[in-house]
Amino acid sequence: MKSSTQTVLEHTRIPRHIAVIMDGNGRWAKKRLLPRVMGHKRGLNALENMVKRCAESGVQYLTVFAFSTENWRRPEDEVSFLMGLFLQALQKQGQRLHENNMRVKIIGNRSRFSKAIQQGIAAAETLTAGNTGLTLTVAADYGGRWDILQAVNKLISGGAAEATEADLARHLMLSEAPEPDLFIRTGGETRISNFLLWQMAYAELYFTDTLWPDFDDAALDAAIRSFQTRERRFGRTSEQLPPEQQRSE
Ligand code: IPE
Ligand code: IPE
Ligand code: MG
Repeated sequence: MKSSTQTVLEHTRIPRHIAVIMDGNGRWAKKRLLPRVMGHKRGLNALENMVKRCAESGVQYLTVFAFSTENWRRPEDEVSFLMGLFLQALQKQGQRLHENNMRVKIIGNRSRFSKAIQQGIAAAETLTAGNTGLTLTVAADYGGRWDILQAVNKLISGGAAEATEADLARHLMLSEAPEPDLFIRTGGETRISNFLLWQMAYAELYFTDTLWPDFDDAALDAAIRSFQTRERRFGRTSEQLPPEQQRSE
């Protein structure tokens, strides 16, 4: 049993929305001389655990990058394995999430997915739509640029000649969620890889070398603790913030 103070979180400053690039599955497998796809399988377990831990910690929205618009460039057998895993997860985890009063949403360009996956997405979303617990959003065939562009196109086809930031934000895929407070990328790379470009304008960024399949409760707690040390000024000076939000010593 873990009893160290390391696992104790300050419960008053939990990020409402965490966005994650779950990276490092391939390297996790390679290190063990396993095929890359085994890393993806273990990555799904890590996600299951993350969802549970986020809910326990009071996080309300978890958005994860599962497959980017650029990931179609991967070898055909890896893409097809990932599609199979996605379909399986939609069916099995969809039910699990529902039993735990959680909502699941998929954001991205669905048109390139098979009919079975498209149906799986619709079924999981419908099943969980009325739930009131954590919202898990899975970005699949998603790209930040694609998201902004589809919002612009919706504005244009709605006849807009000019738009405000709020108009555009309303048409983005994550329009129902608050903007991410904390962004986590595992696997050691320090880039955004075309994830939530618009919505992350003021997210606190956290990068870790931990490979995604190894990202456990302690790793999440460490990320949240790092978030809790940040002073979020949104352009203001420290002195302008309410005392409870000031972090400078
Ligand atoms: C992230 O892990 C999962 C997907 C992109 C689907 P990777 O497969 O990118 O793992 P690495 O970066 O090669 O280790
Ligand atoms: C980003 O990871 C996308 C997902 C985790 C789904 P990648 O591994 O594809 O990113 P790059 O190519 O290294 O930037
Ligand atoms: Mg990668």
